[in-house]
Amino acid sequence: MSDTKRKETSLALQALRSLATWFDRQKRVLPWRDEPTLYHVWISEIMLQQTQVITVLPYFQKFIRRFPTVESLAKASLDDVLLHWAGLGYYSRARNIHKGAQMIVAARGAAGGAGKKNSGFPKTREGWLEIPGVGNYTAGAILSIALDQPEAILDGNVERVLSRVRRVSRARGDTVFRSRLWTLSRATVTRAFDLGIAPSVTNQALMELGATVCTPRKPMCMLCPVSTVCQAFRQGDVENFPPKKKPKEWIKVQEQLHCLMDSEGRVLLRKREKGEWRAGLWDLLDDLSPRFTSKDYEKIGFVDSKHVVTRHKIQRTTHVWKLKKVPGEKLQLGPGFCWTRVSEDSIAMGSALKRTLQMVSERYPEMMG
Ligand code: ADE
Repeated sequence: MSDTKRKETSLALQALRSLATWFDRQKRVLPWRDEPTLYHVWISEIMLQQTQVITVLPYFQKFIRRFPTVESLAKASLDDVLLHWAGLGYYSRARNIHKGAQMIVAARGAAGGAGKKNSGFPKTREGWLEIPGVGNYTAGAILSIALDQPEAILDGNVERVLSRVRRVSRARGDTVFRSRLWTLSRATVTRAFDLGIAPSVTNQALMELGATVCTPRKPMCMLCPVSTVCQAFRQGDVENFPPKKKPKEWIKVQEQLHCLMDSEGRVLLRKREKGEWRAGLWDLLDDLSPRFTSKDYEKIGFVDSKHVVTRHKIQRTTHVWKLKKVPGEKLQLGPGFCWTRVSEDSIAMGSALKRTLQMVSERYPEMMG
């Protein structure tokens, strides 16, 4: 892009300075900002995909305490990684960072080991895009925040800020809309960089502005450092931007699960297998046969529950059964099964399972021993 074109496309010079000063004064204290290494920024950006800052905070701290370096993450078992992710949802993210850590450590090994020039972490957008779970937004965020490279970003918050500043419409379709915003984001971070403003400041300022001032409803335009150049503010139609998308299409899922409990109040769980939805997480059983037959258990009741997991609306009926006395060999379980207590926190349970077990224990307290 030519200099003139960049000037036209990006925010005005004074607005870029005022955005940077605002960020410097108003930024939230967030743990991944303390020490913005490639490792910390990568983990935080993956956790922040589809998840709010307030939810991520305790998970990030617990995760970094358990896996302080990319080597410790690469060496850990997937079960351990999933355990520290449990409750955050979108579990493919945990599988991806585990795989990504192994790729980074392998790249370091190939380049001659730690302490040498190559840390194994990618240093370019193309390089990051090869790490599973890293898309264009995340690659740009990592490179700009950790390495101060003038790389563009576009997530929901930045999309809102930039579409308002330029009143970008969706009239020519979603692809044109997104492409215009990527161009605007690129021009903004590059022009600011040319003026001496660090990309980590420009990009985080855009994210922060979207999260705290330029909010979807009731934006606080009086506090906005770029309101003087904001076209939607001038026109008085800020809340019409970004223009609405088609509503999310929900996938409806009906589940019938079985909660089999033994006389000590433990529940039988199975680990979801590779290739299954929510692989690696523990869940109730879809089926009690062929290990158990109807002579082995008696019905206690059932619990109906509703769960929202990513794009799925799950309507779950959990049948609750009590195990009778059965021959010892029926209780010998393979590696994909375990008996566990509702209060157990050393195995990876998704939030749907945690809530279901909570409901079963409230409905049938006598069963929990
Ligand atoms: N949302 C996505 N990335 C973020 C970051 N680095 N800081 C705050 N909010 C974010």
